[in-house]
Amino acid sequence: MDLLRIDGGCRLDGQVRASGAKNATLPILSAGLLTDDTLVVRNVPHLEDVTTTNLLLAQMGVGVTVGDHMVVEVDSSSISSCVAPYDLVKTMRASILVLGPLLARRGEAEVSLPGGCAIGARPVDIHLRGLEAMGAEIEVEGGYIRARSGRLRGARYAMDTVTVTGTENLMMAATLADGVTVLENAAREPEVVDLANCLIAMGAKIEGAGTPIIRIQGVERLHGAEYSVLPDRIETGTFLVAAAVTRGRVRVVETDPTLIEAVTEKLRGCGAEVTEGDDWIELNMRGKRPRSVDLRTSPYPGFPTDMQAQFTTLNAVAEGAGAITETVFENRFMHVSELQRMGADIRQAGNTVIVRGKEKLTGAPVMATDLRASASLVIAGLVADGATEVRRIYHLDRGYECMEEKFAQLGATVRRLRDDAPVTARSAVKT
Ligand code: EPU
Repeated sequence: MDLLRIDGGCRLDGQVRASGAKNATLPILSAGLLTDDTLVVRNVPHLEDVTTTNLLLAQMGVGVTVGDHMVVEVDSSSISSCVAPYDLVKTMRASILVLGPLLARRGEAEVSLPGGCAIGARPVDIHLRGLEAMGAEIEVEGGYIRARSGRLRGARYAMDTVTVTGTENLMMAATLADGVTVLENAAREPEVVDLANCLIAMGAKIEGAGTPIIRIQGVERLHGAEYSVLPDRIETGTFLVAAAVTRGRVRVVETDPTLIEAVTEKLRGCGAEVTEGDDWIELNMRGKRPRSVDLRTSPYPGFPTDMQAQFTTLNAVAEGAGAITETVFENRFMHVSELQRMGADIRQAGNTVIVRGKEKLTGAPVMATDLRASASLVIAGLVADGATEVRRIYHLDRGYECMEEKFAQLGATVRRLRDDAPVTARSAVKT
């Protein structure tokens, strides 16, 4: 297993490019299942989760061609299997995104239940109830969701909780349903809007994506399209936080500042100078120590849960104390104990952590537990005294493209090394 070794103490300075958004790419690739024409997807990030999606589609008989500059062509003209097996689903929960498209196009799907993960229980009941409302018969047996239907029927469905992949699954299924589907309490995340735009380019009739009510008029068939994925707002935010933590200056280009306003507001609140153009955003800390901020995660346009861990690190080195409350996932503080090992002063009470900033953290061996927690540890390593070794970085590789190269471009000393340490009871814990 690889690890990242970070020599702390640098002040980031420079420019990086935002990659395409992971959480838009995964549903868009799955949307390729909805047509027998070819879907050409551009600006696809080179990530482990994208490779897993491609493998998942390929084992269903879908032709997946990865061309130059990660242009991916999805050809679902001859689907030979409607099964998403446990071995792939267990490595990536977003595999559930094939359920809606398979059911809509083929009238059958067998998808392993994703189960829980390091950040919480993460059920898929809302996906299943929505599909049932559209006429699907679903049983869960032997760890698998087995779904059957004739042509799905349009339905009005109000989701109990705002769910991103739930909204995406149901929106995809509804594109080929008979009649109108209205999704209430829909997720408003930019990645939902990006998927809707791709589906519209494929001939779908969708209104209201980006609002809590999405209306989909089903059509007989979708056609092929070429679509370019939007920039990754969470990757963008991660680099801006790294700039703030190291008291440096970073410009992220080929991004969209309008997608992370809740994040930039907090960064301004911590004393950073943030400037923006149409497709870039720059944070300059001018060598100053950031001030702590209070925040509470919530669905878009609220503060994203996917930026919570990075801000925990920011508060850990900031002036003053800040309270961070996580409301989206019940167990997304796995990074806290690792940050404490680096000297952070953090106390957890329920779904809130109180972080008292320290002037410095100390480098230590730490363990990544999920994707965004890993990013928070790398950022902590950048500012810590001495060396930090972040183990289990396969989590990072799932969702950050060329992270160490990008940090190196900004002046950090981050190296990928082989971790040949024997497996211990701790490192063998399954997430
Ligand atoms: N929920 C239910 N029932 C459901 C679905 C969700 O109770 O049927 C609950 C979840 O347990 C959670 C809340 O609803 O408490 C929100 O979960 P959501 O379904 O929105 O999460 P998701 O769709 O599984 C996506 C992103 C996550 C991101 C969340 C929240 C993808 C592939 N994943 O997950 O991204 O944190 O939305 O914004 O889009 C990441 O990139 O690191 C990541 C975890």
